[in-house]
Amino acid sequence: MNDAHLPEDPEGQAGYLLNAVADALAERGWGVFPHALPPALSHSLWQRATTLEHYQPAGVGRQTRHRRNRFVRNDETAWIEGVTDEEVVWLDWAERLREHLNRSLFLGLTEFETHFARYAPGAFYARHRDAFKGSENRVVSLVLYLNPAWQPADGGQLVLYDDRSRELGRFEPELGTIAVFLSEQHPHEVLATERPRHSIAGWFRRREANPMLAGAQS
Ligand code: OGA
Ligand code: MN
Repeated sequence: MNDAHLPEDPEGQAGYLLNAVADALAERGWGVFPHALPPALSHSLWQRATTLEHYQPAGVGRQTRHRRNRFVRNDETAWIEGVTDEEVVWLDWAERLREHLNRSLFLGLTEFETHFARYAPGAFYARHRDAFKGSENRVVSLVLYLNPAWQPADGGQLVLYDDRSRELGRFEPELGTIAVFLSEQHPHEVLATERPRHSIAGWFRRREANPMLAGAQS
């Protein structure tokens, strides 16, 4: 049996968090929220992240542009398809957030892609953006951290920047914390970690425009 579950009351704690995330995105484009997920869900995702075995070296770019570049990032990732109970609950949670963002901010998000990421000691992810202006693919980035009792000396902080590369803050990847930001607007990096570091990254996307249709319409 799996004890991961979502709180039933949408007006309760979960509803409060959804509103806080939408407000943060609307007002400044980003937000970091400690204790964001129900503890039982964070805990079961942490167990899954630390025991699953099909991690692959991470790439840079998507699909045909996918390359390994160990100077940019040297974490390992495993896509989440919803094959275990806690993965399904995570996908349901993200779906609730997607619907809420569409309702409250009219973002028109149609898809969500998500993977576990594992950083071995020494691993990092250099400053990058998750989407490029005008490409209209990844719109909102979401990261959930899965590391109980993280200490500042453990490294591995997320550093968020504004659109002009000014630092906005550094955040510990503590179990249950989520970071949310507009993918095009906020460069960010993961500092080298001293301890194994686990997280889930996800991206809400708009369905890619069909270039044939776009051409026909203009
Ligand atoms: C990413 C990423 C940030 C983090 O996977 O694109 O930037 O803190 N992750 O894990
Ligand atoms: Mn990123």
